[in-house]
Amino acid sequence: MQPTPPPPAPVLLATRSLQMVYGTGPTATHALAGVDLSIAPAESVAIMGPSGSGKTTLLHCLAGIVRPTSGSVLWREQDIASLKDTQRTALRRSDFGFVFQSGQLLPELPAVENAALPLMLGGMPRAQAVATAAVRLGELGLAGMEDRRPGELSGGQAQRVAIARALVGSPGVIFADEPTGALDQTTGAEVMAVLTQAAARSGAALVVVTHDPTVARWCSRTVAMRDGLVSGEFYAPAGHQPPAPATQQATAPSAPQAPAPQQAPAPQQPGGQAR
Ligand SMILES: Nc1ncnc2c1ncn2[C@@H]1O[C@H](COP(=O)(O)OP(=O)(O)OP(=O)(O)O)[C@@H](O)[C@H]1O
Ligand SMILES: [Mg+2]
Repeated sequence: MQPTPPPPAPVLLATRSLQMVYGTGPTATHALAGVDLSIAPAESVAIMGPSGSGKTTLLHCLAGIVRPTSGSVLWREQDIASLKDTQRTALRRSDFGFVFQSGQLLPELPAVENAALPLMLGGMPRAQAVATAAVRLGELGLAGMEDRRPGELSGGQAQRVAIARALVGSPGVIFADEPTGALDQTTGAEVMAVLTQAAARSGAALVVVTHDPTVARWCSRTVAMRDGLVSGEFYAPAGHQPPAPATQQATAPSAPQAPAPQQAPAPQQPGGQAR
């Protein structure tokens, strides 16, 4: 008797033959040269590669920030390139969260209002939005800092506010471009602990662009890019989970839980670790 094949992994977000060309003629840059990638619900994916390999361009195409030259980006099986600009803006607001390297908070607003912004932009009454954001800040270890302005926070605390803002609307996926790039190693590890735990707790997928292999270790999969193409995919060892959610102390600034070290990366072989 034939064994029953496993069901195909569900797909939340996918690219198909994604190409992005900046400019025309001899000066054109092929930033993405045909990327096929599928991301499952609640999966955490690190995108790594040399400078100029197309990581940020891929992230921006996935997030509907830029329209690809050709190919498709499928969000819950819908091609977001086919959406009108207003529809894509609404999708970004309702289903996507964003964390950037730094400088993303409005300096004149207190932390709690920075975190509440997506809800207020979505029409939630201010008091309700601020109360919801305060809960998120508390979950991320920032209770008592709600009224501080970004200039009164450390870099790591400011990134936690940015994470709270990314999560406050319960998005399906969080996009992060070099979220620890402006932080030292220890603070960066704490921020990655907070980010991966918070995403896991809320059931959001996570797509993180990074140059730092220690950042990538927090993710269940690493996608390597080179010259606008996926050059390899590496999976964390079986059983790898983002550090445990909920009540653990790992969200406390001093106690991030390091994940199990990842296997030495090796290019994905057909029939190997591929899912
Ligand atoms: N708006 C743009 N106009 C023209 N070329 C661009 C634009 N954005 C990116 N590029 C080019 O596309 C290529 C990919 O850029 P991208 O920013 O995606 O790389 P990256 O992998 O994120 O690099 P880094 O690690 O330095 O951030 C590069 O050659 C870059 O110069
Ligand atoms: Mg980049």
